Amino acid sequence: MDLVSSLPEEVLCHILSFMSTKEAALTSVLSKRWLSLWTLVPNLDVDDSVFLHPEEGKREREGILYSFMDFVDRVLALQGDSPIKRFSLKCKTGIDPDRVNLWILNVLQRGVSDLELCLDFPRCGYSDNDDEDYELPKEMFESKTLVDLKLTSEFGVDWWRDKGTLLPMLKSLRIDSGELLLLSDELELFVYALPVVEELYLATMEWFDLDETVSSASLRKLTIYAKGFEGFGGDPKGFSFDTPSLVYLDYSDYVAADYPKVNLTSLAEARLNLLVKENQVELIRAAAPNGEDDVVIQRFRNVSKLMRGLINVEKLSLSADTLEVLSLSCDSMPVFNNLKSLNIKSHKERGWQAVPVLLRNCPHLETIVFEGLIHYVTDDCGDACGCISREDKGRCSLVSCPVKKIQIHGFEMTVPEMKVIRHFLVSLQCLKEMKIYAKENDPTNLPLPAMFELIEMAMKFYSQEFKCDVSFIRPGS
Ligand SMILES: *[C@@H]1O[C@H](CO)[C@@H](O)[C@H](O)[C@H]1NC(C)=O
Ligand SMILES: *[C@@H]1O[C@H](CO)[C@@H](O)[C@H](O)[C@H]1NC(C)=O
Repeated sequence: MDLVSSLPEEVLCHILSFMSTKEAALTSVLSKRWLSLWTLVPNLDVDDSVFLHPEEGKREREGILYSFMDFVDRVLALQGDSPIKRFSLKCKTGIDPDRVNLWILNVLQRGVSDLELCLDFPRCGYSDNDDEDYELPKEMFESKTLVDLKLTSEFGVDWWRDKGTLLPMLKSLRIDSGELLLLSDELELFVYALPVVEELYLATMEWFDLDETVSSASLRKLTIYAKGFEGFGGDPKGFSFDTPSLVYLDYSDYVAADYPKVNLTSLAEARLNLLVKENQVELIRAAAPNGEDDVVIQRFRNVSKLMRGLINVEKLSLSADTLEVLSLSCDSMPVFNNLKSLNIKSHKERGWQAVPVLLRNCPHLETIVFEGLIHYVTDDCGDACGCISREDKGRCSLVSCPVKKIQIHGFEMTVPEMKVIRHFLVSLQCLKEMKIYAKENDPTNLPLPAMFELIEMAMKFYSQEFKCDVSFIRPGS
């Protein structure tokens, strides 16, 4: 008898529950004792690629597919109706969807609380008009034991529509799919069916309705990536957040005309990516400074309601598109008293107009992370970047900015970037540390090692001149 086998049963079960089903199955050939133990394991992790070794072309062989499916059937049969905590199933096409659904039903009946499904059938969900589509068992949408549900599909997920949908124990739902349709039509109804949900990850949303609301008292983390509206011919009309317990928000969607209700009183971290179409960018740039009655411009100004909802955040990330949108709400930019860390993503076609006012309105900012410095130069991005030299240095937004640390990622070693860096060093009075990371994997622009040395030298020089620790980090280090 070896050392492992002499361990008590519950310890062995515990060990087994961390192995994938295949590894656990291998142990069962060792001895009868292992076999009987293994059938008591409360976690099953079934991944068809582990069995079918697609790299050896075995998936193509029908026989292997069938023996895989028989194996899963056998495992589940061996376990009988003993309770199961976690079931993870990763399947590619070729596996019989009807059998997959029997497996899912089996674990649902045994009270599974943690279910992870990675199914690449043409469409995952419930559809009553298309026989071709794969349908998830409707019992999954009514489970009284599910606490954690993860659903992944390359193609698409349709969330069931019937009134019966109710997952009273579900705390965490992650749907990661090429396209996600809520067949209830509305986000509000969908969230309503998850009365205790704390974490939601929804990608990539396709809205039916152009007016959406997330309303939940329990929700703490929310991620929404939406797909855009090209096919629908309309832009989002409204989006409301009635989520007073939300601590983390990651939101990516086309700009809505209005944000009627924004209750985000507990929010500590926000990542905002308000997408704009090219013609909208033209409109934003053409806007007269006081074009109050212009309806189109008004819709971009309504974003300030959303911004006001974010005033409690400590960490804020803004995409390049969001900055462009915010250029029209500079006058109504709220003060972010709690904000310590700001992340700004730049894009060469998107402006920095909003950056000066943002920096002025973050009186306790400690860190700024720039993902790229190169941006579209406009008349007013001016004092934050120094792209345009000004006479009136006195009102520079940076002078009063208390930031201590700056990180710059994706540095492309161009002259305009060097100018921005120098402008930061000259203007930011409290700056103690600046780390500049060279752009990684840039095949179009392979710099010479001598270039790196030159930049390192310049940074050493800057460190002395400005009494700030400026360092340059080469790619790959
Ligand atoms: C947000 O919701 C909470 C809880 O429902 C409520 O107490 C608070 O007044 C709301 N705040 C705003 C700004 O609506
Ligand atoms: C902006 O918000 C106001 C107030 O909620 C609303 O009446 C208006 O329609 C919104 N603007 C647009 C263009 O929809």
